[in-house]
Amino acid sequence: MASPPHTSKTLKLERYNSYLRRLHSTKVLNASSKLIFRVTLLIALVLILFFTLNYPPLSDKNPNHAHLHHHNFLSAALFTSSAGGDAWEKQVRHSSTPKKPNGLSVLVTGAAGFVGSHCSIALKKRGDGVLGLDNFNSYYDPSLKRARQKLLLKNQVFIVEGDLNDASLLTKLFDVVPFTHILHLAAQAGVRYAMQNPQSYVSSNIAGFVNLLEVAKTANPQPAIVWASSSSVYGLNTQVPFSELDRTDQPASLYAATKKAGEEIAHTYNHIYGLSLTGLRFFTVYGPWGRPDMAYFFFTKDILQGKPIDVYQTQDKKQVARDFTYIDDVVKGCLGALDTAEKSTGSGGKKKGPAQLRVYNLGNTSPVPVGKLVSILEGLLRTKARKHVIKMPRNGDVPYTHANVTLAYRDFGYKPTTDLATGLRKFVKWYVDYYGIQTRVKKDSDINSEHPEESV
Ligand SMILES: NC(=O)c1ccc[n+]([C@@H]2O[C@H](COP(=O)([O-])OP(=O)(O)OC[C@H]3O[C@@H](n4cnc5c(N)ncnc54)[C@H](O)[C@@H]3O)[C@@H](O)[C@H]2O)c1
Ligand SMILES: *[C@@H]1O[C@H](CO)[C@@H](O)[C@H](O)[C@H]1NC(C)=O
Repeated sequence: MASPPHTSKTLKLERYNSYLRRLHSTKVLNASSKLIFRVTLLIALVLILFFTLNYPPLSDKNPNHAHLHHHNFLSAALFTSSAGGDAWEKQVRHSSTPKKPNGLSVLVTGAAGFVGSHCSIALKKRGDGVLGLDNFNSYYDPSLKRARQKLLLKNQVFIVEGDLNDASLLTKLFDVVPFTHILHLAAQAGVRYAMQNPQSYVSSNIAGFVNLLEVAKTANPQPAIVWASSSSVYGLNTQVPFSELDRTDQPASLYAATKKAGEEIAHTYNHIYGLSLTGLRFFTVYGPWGRPDMAYFFFTKDILQGKPIDVYQTQDKKQVARDFTYIDDVVKGCLGALDTAEKSTGSGGKKKGPAQLRVYNLGNTSPVPVGKLVSILEGLLRTKARKHVIKMPRNGDVPYTHANVTLAYRDFGYKPTTDLATGLRKFVKWYVDYYGIQTRVKKDSDINSEHPEESV
């Protein structure tokens, strides 16, 4: 059925293509001599910088210089591997070594973050070895990350300051410590910020994840990896409660798309290299030491300051609801996933047999409308909120989340036990204490002598 015009079109196309090829090859010749010159110049420059920046040499024995990241970009790029030094290595080893027989040795990425700091402490307390990694970026107030770092240090957990995308740093860490597990929680979180800074999602959640997997696949032995996906992968899915079998190919935000990409990338590294990979889809995690960019956190702040708060309604005027999950429940889920993770099967970057690949919901299984969240906070803070009810902007948020956690229960006994009123009570107690706020907030003594329902 091929028609004549089609053939002549193909001929033209071929001629055009060969023209392009010729044009290209002369350009390439010209370009390559220029390139050689430029590369030589660059090498010379780099060598000069190398020597000027590093005399006297970096082998400083002061343990305060343990942070291997220099603020000077070039010296950091060139010297990640040597910048460690003996004291640094000792600190890294000490932090990563389990205290109990058969304990895990876990690299926790995003350890200065909300979930990462809680998981690091929980692991350390039960006798596992933990080393943190975090770049302390300023997506939200870095002083909160520094305060969590201090808390971790008190618990003998050391955080290396560095980026997921720093391959030589990651390789160095695996040279020093044979980690049995990675708990990968570092990411660019938040749904709305993606419209402001899309590249940060690609850099941390996709490029950074691939970089980590590349290092993990080469490590000997390969670690098992448990990592944070998100309930946001369910996107426009309307089937509730959300089950792992539901479709996740309609993300409503770039954040969700990068988490979904992560799940596909995990499949690839499991398939090709035999890495054991478990993705955990967290549902709106909240609690003490939480994230200031999340509604329960900034509602608390704004209510206390007498500022109005935006309460979202769906386009069809229904209440927005979330399956709020208390941090301690999520921590138990993370530890359960680590404990049931099978070993990776590859070695020397080669797959030796099939490896475990899993995905689980970690939610609370009881969605709460945002209006209810506000009224619980009003009760705890003894302050009326100035509610400003508006339609949810179409910026990536979904109207409703609800987890089915049957699978996580079956495989590692995951069973959330904290309801929103109880969890928020603990959050508010931490909040007023951390920020040193003198208010009408219910005192500990009031809180203990009362039933959770009464505050609502
Ligand atoms: N908190 C929630 O409700 C929730 C819900 C779903 C999924 N998650 C996922 O759980 C994980 C932990 O979330 P969180 O609430 O603790 O967030 P968080 O922002 O408090 O913690 C993430 C940490 O990772 C660090 N980080 C970011 N990019 C990095 C990079 N490129 N290199 C090194 N460190 C980097 C940040 O500095 C931060 O301390 C994230 O992957 C997040 O996407 C969280
Ligand atoms: C929850 O998911 C499991 C499979 O993981 C399924 O068998 C069950 O029917 C689901 N429950 C509901 C209420 O959808």
